[in-house]
Amino acid sequence: SPRHFIDLWHLESAELREILDMAHAMKKARAGWPKGRVDTGAPLEGHTLAMIFEKSSTRTRFSFDMGMRQLGGSSITATSSDMQLGRGETVEDTARVLSRFVDAVMIRANDHSDVEAFAANASVPVINGLTDRSHPCQIMADLQTLEESGLELRGARLAWVGDGNNVCASFIHAAAKFGFSLAVGTPARFAPDDEDLEIARELQARIDLYDTAEEAVAGADVVIADTFVSMGDADAERRLEILEPYAVTEELMELANGDAKFLHCLPAHRGEEVDAEVIDGPQSLVFDEAENRLHAQKAVLRWCLNK
Ligand code: CP
Ligand code: NVA
Repeated sequence: SPRHFIDLWHLESAELREILDMAHAMKKARAGWPKGRVDTGAPLEGHTLAMIFEKSSTRTRFSFDMGMRQLGGSSITATSSDMQLGRGETVEDTARVLSRFVDAVMIRANDHSDVEAFAANASVPVINGLTDRSHPCQIMADLQTLEESGLELRGARLAWVGDGNNVCASFIHAAAKFGFSLAVGTPARFAPDDEDLEIARELQARIDLYDTAEEAVAGADVVIADTFVSMGDADAERRLEILEPYAVTEELMELANGDAKFLHCLPAHRGEEVDAEVIDGPQSLVFDEAENRLHAQKAVLRWCLNK
């Protein structure tokens, strides 16, 4: 059966390690090259990725497209409303049909169960490009970025503050796999889902939940924020009000370790979840993090296609 990339906890630690190592190596091998030049050996020559978007995207769309070009392959992008999916054709039939045309499919979906249903009916690998539940590709790029900055993931303390959302869930899934601990500071109503915490327990991950950002950030090597209002969240005003005390400010960063790094998957809202002084300051890695979407996903694509 095809190698899907739906959630990090589905993969063995060794497989995730292999993907990250490949991402580091591929990035180094093409340093300084024009961005459209094909990698040595064109590992995905003749391969095509279909990308389906139910929600907006800048990074995911461009990084997967450029990634396929660099690997010597190509990609086709559509929004679900361009497709018969938007007129009620089933996910199952769409998966069966696209499997006849392309070599892999990336989906950004509103509902995680649609990606699972797609994968269950596809005969080619399916990659989760963000759902309401998780964002595994993002976390591979984030971990690549932290390793590049010199951080040893095993034994590191990462702190997530704000909304315990889809990106947070993928960090929870990654913790045991890479041996870092995760401190999560959220208001009770925006705490991570029980289902994800149960997965962490089964994997014997160290996840510490706190009610405040201050407690979560104390002694952290990395501080991570995300938007307070994710795509699909209806209650923007209420969220901004409740989450305001969880904003990453310079004062909050001072509670973390001296050389703590700041991550944010972007898009960011300066003055909401993070102050400009932090995200545009010396501790921030956010643009390396965005760049690494490209390198990490190229490695994910090669792993999926076993090339
Ligand atoms: N971080 C991220 O997934 O960005 P996009 O929504 O722009 O793809
Ligand atoms: N949590 C955000 C991440 C965007 C990349 C969202 O789902 O909108």
